[in-house]
Amino acid sequence: MRYRKLIVTGGAGFIGSEFVRQNASKYKIAVVDKITYAGDIKRLAEVAGKYSFYKTDICDARKIEAVFKKEKPDAVAHFAAESHVDRSIDDASVFMTTNVIGTQVLLDAAKKHKVKRFLHVSTDEVYGDIIKGTFSENSPFSPNSPYAVSKAAADMLVSAYHRTYGLPVVIMRASNNYGPWQFPEKLIPVIIMNALKNKRVPVYAKGLNVREWLYVADCAKAVSAILEKGEDGQAYNVGSGMEKKNIDVVRGILYALGKPDRLIEFVKDRPGHDIRYALSVAKIRQKLRWKAGTAFAEGLKKTVDWYVKNTKWTSRVLAEEKKTGRSK
Ligand SMILES: NC(=O)c1ccc[n+]([C@@H]2O[C@H](COP(=O)([O-])OP(=O)(O)OC[C@H]3O[C@@H](n4cnc5c(N)ncnc54)[C@H](O)[C@@H]3O)[C@@H](O)[C@H]2O)c1
Repeated sequence: MRYRKLIVTGGAGFIGSEFVRQNASKYKIAVVDKITYAGDIKRLAEVAGKYSFYKTDICDARKIEAVFKKEKPDAVAHFAAESHVDRSIDDASVFMTTNVIGTQVLLDAAKKHKVKRFLHVSTDEVYGDIIKGTFSENSPFSPNSPYAVSKAAADMLVSAYHRTYGLPVVIMRASNNYGPWQFPEKLIPVIIMNALKNKRVPVYAKGLNVREWLYVADCAKAVSAILEKGEDGQAYNVGSGMEKKNIDVVRGILYALGKPDRLIEFVKDRPGHDIRYALSVAKIRQKLRWKAGTAFAEGLKKTVDWYVKNTKWTSRVLAEEKKTGRSK
């Protein structure tokens, strides 16, 4: 291991917690998480006692400085973000604050404390959509939703800190993740939860939008590869090559649960809805020898099984979100 002490922001979220679960024995990890509606420390139950935790907002420069001073990290893995496109369409403000200002606060702390590596978790959505072919790491940015714009701004800020201050950064741009512990507002868990209750499953427009589905455990392994072996100043696309139309994903879930297609309800499209995302992963394959290992059918089965067994968790986090409105 090149690094020993890590700060992991957003470590109580969906992808960040998978990374912490995979790596809690390898590194000394300090999780920094505000615990918004999307954060839940229960995701880290299986590694309890193997990490330290700061319930801290990444936008709070004074508190972030105190965490860096205490933890003296070698590296930062920055997952924390507002992550749901639909919410950004309702209200962009918290997306700009957390995703842009929060990233700037962390970059300043990383610079001051001379961390050896700052890994920024970005998204394929910075490139916008593409009808044919794939995006490479050099494709121009053309983000379409307020969420994607906030992530593109953060991504560019991270590159600027490399060029301007020589901060040793690496960037990961991942495609749509799915798997256990995802907050039940995103497509796959929403479909599973509704279908389990025999409720209608909402599908935007005709369900023809295409996403490249990446199993969360594979994504977290890509983070580890980039963290340990990535080259300073470089970005790496992380996709699976497993492209699916939304409607096919929905039908696959209904089939796995033994539910009828008539539960599908086509609803008014999301404004500005990106048609298709697709990434070239030639760079990470060739340079870092990473490849997504989980076939979509296998990942979907594991995910469906997990949600079937964990309805208590989904009901609880949804009830808490409703009660406290912690997202706003
Ligand atoms: N989920 C995907 O499909 C996907 C794909 C590509 C990239 N990403 C990126 O990966 C990262 C993680 O995504 P996710 O799906 O795990 O998100 P998530 O919403 O499940 O988790 C985000 C975490 O960040 C925390 N957080 C939010 N605001 C914070 C703040 N101001 N200070 C401290 N903590 C805060 C939340 O409490 C939560 O634990 C994000 O940066 C996201 O943009 C996600």
